[in-house]
Amino acid sequence: MREEKFDFLREKVKAENIPTVRDKTLQKLRGEVFAAQPKKILEIGTAAGISGAAMLLCADEAKLVTIEKDPDFADRARGIFRALGLEKRVTLLEGDADEIVPLLSGGYDFIFLDGPKGKYAAYLPDLKALLKPGGVLFADNISLKFYGLKHSEHRNRTAHVNMAHFLETMRTDEDFSVRFFEEEDGALIAEKLR
Ligand SMILES: C[S@@+](CC[C@H](N)C(=O)[O-])C[C@H]1O[C@@H](n2cnc3c(N)ncnc32)[C@H](O)[C@@H]1O
Repeated sequence: MREEKFDFLREKVKAENIPTVRDKTLQKLRGEVFAAQPKKILEIGTAAGISGAAMLLCADEAKLVTIEKDPDFADRARGIFRALGLEKRVTLLEGDADEIVPLLSGGYDFIFLDGPKGKYAAYLPDLKALLKPGGVLFADNISLKFYGLKHSEHRNRTAHVNMAHFLETMRTDEDFSVRFFEEEDGALIAEKLR
């Protein structure tokens, strides 16, 4: 029943062109969350709350902290969490992740990185410190295939340079075991080993 409601809400969000994780990547994300059964999830980039809700629906004991800077999206997300009866499990931090991420504390079992694509590398030191050993970092859109369609050439180039830096840092960090999801816009899935 709740799954049907979720599917309905997701289709509405997609029809309004509000950004949300693509179909196969969502399946992959759900599979990873289901396997990990995290207690504490951090998400950068809530948008309308679709990925956040999806993660909570496959990990019954999980609580979610999610960050969104756009007030309209944040409102929409609050409505969607409420509609699915998930609001008590969510802390939505409305504001700029650049400012909020460095203020976070405590350990997280799962981090879904889906905010500003040019900032993954900048957030990484804080996110690594927030992720518990054994925890998983799932970063979406690492190919940036669709990114240049919306942004200026300069912003596009900067995002590509920063993403390459993020990927290289992750690949060479021996504290992480890294896998790649090659479909759609690509994702990096990394387990923190220690
Ligand atoms: C790809 S969308 C997130 C989609 C969502 N995770 C989902 O799958 O349903 C990226 C979101 O990050 C938000 N965002 C961009 N820059 C941000 C920042 N500096 N701080 C917080 N949120 C930001 C955007 O407003 C947008 O809603």
